Amino acid sequence: MLGAIPKLNFRDYAFPCKRRLTTRSRSSATGRQDVIRRATARELHAMNQRFTLTVNGKTHTVDADPDMPLLYALRNDIGLNNPHFGCGLAQCGACTVHLDGRPVSSCVTPLCAVGQAKIVTLAGLGTPEKPHPLQTAYIEEQVPQCGYCINGWLMTAAAFLRDKKKPSEAEIKDALSGLKCRCGTHISILKAVKRAAEMMG
Ligand code: FES
Ligand code: FES
Repeated sequence: MLGAIPKLNFRDYAFPCKRRLTTRSRSSATGRQDVIRRATARELHAMNQRFTLTVNGKTHTVDADPDMPLLYALRNDIGLNNPHFGCGLAQCGACTVHLDGRPVSSCVTPLCAVGQAKIVTLAGLGTPEKPHPLQTAYIEEQVPQCGYCINGWLMTAAAFLRDKKKPSEAEIKDALSGLKCRCGTHISILKAVKRAAEMMG
């Protein structure tokens, strides 16, 4: 049985400089001076704003820091575990989601930049009854090993194949060149994307 989705700790990992506050205090030796201190929980909460996010066709309300990456809201607040935390630096693709159809790294997309954009995660790409051709091709080619990276490959390839019919192998490689798979499934992934492209062609 699957356990609870592990929570990402935004306070510890993201933008630590913004969790510091500068306050004035009195020093007997030098008079007034600035002191940099860690924000209290109450002060952090006061920075929160309310965001209404449309994810996979459903509306969710999230109270959060405007600088909080979308990935944290999707996993911690909405409970979607398809986008994964890999690098947190827009370098691996594990956290990819679609914003108005455009693939983005949700680990570096702050909530304040989402606006009214419609968000689609891997859970919204297809259903067990009607999978996306890429999902079908992944199963037929038996691509996954650990599966951690799958989200990024599928979401990036889905946006690419929607816009590019009958792509060449070089075009597929170019479109997916920013993604990482530590299990080394790249050859199988390429076969699956080519198979899906044929299905969608
Ligand atoms: S976790 Fe976002 S690109 Fe790596
Ligand atoms: S299948 Fe394990 S990281 Fe890609």
